[in-house]
Amino acid sequence: MSILDKHAILEKNATLLLIGSLLVVTVGGIVEIVPLFYLENTIEKVEGMRPYSPLELAGRNVYIREGCYVCHSQMIRPFRDEVERYGHYSLAAESMYDHPFQWGSKRTGPDLARVGDRYSNAWHVQHLQDPRTVVPESVMPSYAFLKEANLDVRGFSTHLVANARVGVPYTDEMIENAEADMRAQANPDADTTGVETRYPKAKVGDFDGNPQALTEMDALVAYLQTLGTLVDFSTYDEVKNER
Ligand code: HEC
Repeated sequence: MSILDKHAILEKNATLLLIGSLLVVTVGGIVEIVPLFYLENTIEKVEGMRPYSPLELAGRNVYIREGCYVCHSQMIRPFRDEVERYGHYSLAAESMYDHPFQWGSKRTGPDLARVGDRYSNAWHVQHLQDPRTVVPESVMPSYAFLKEANLDVRGFSTHLVANARVGVPYTDEMIENAEADMRAQANPDADTTGVETRYPKAKVGDFDGNPQALTEMDALVAYLQTLGTLVDFSTYDEVKNER
């Protein structure tokens, strides 16, 4: 009996075929998944990643609530066309504090993984209020109401606590200062040393063009401006080449 004839036994018996397939899938799964638990480079260590500041985290909440991920991905794939358009491909470590991550799979609009620092705050506000005034052919909806929506600051520290529970390294100090930090980051007259030491590279100042009010627009723009800016890729590539 040749090996192919033996295979026919499997193919003619549905139960045997099912058990055989399950075995193959299990072995394949173990081989692929188990090494991820002990390989050190599963998540490459990179310098510069830090938890979101409370204001950025609030902006991220608005991003999720408004379903921006339905049209925008945050995951630059390691292909030349993507890297040339959007910048360095995304690293796993860059979404290590994202719960849930915003990689997405649909790009009606461009990828936003590195949109931080690409435009001014005023451009973002104008674009979110009325996309077609800056990009005439845009099909993006208007989010003008975010400028009128006061940001709900009270009790925001609970969002940091929830993230800490799932492993984001928010310290007690960060949690205690959450509400004050949120107000300070978007207030051009505030002392921002606290925010800037707790959250290095945090952008501070007025985001929505209205320094008097703290709005959801402030939070969303603060979040967008931080995307992809924490890891310094000029040093990252050097470190990698030295290894
Ligand atoms: C219906 C799909 C759709 C939704 C929903 C959507 N966008 Fe867009 N977005 C687009 C399209 C299309 C573009 C490209 C044209 C433009 O710049 O307006 C775009 C562009 C952008 C850009 C400029 C990116 C660049 O690199 O030029 C930003 C920033 C942005 N969107 C943010 C958001 C945010 C934040 C939300 C949620 C509040 C959102 N978008 C929701 C479709 C969408």
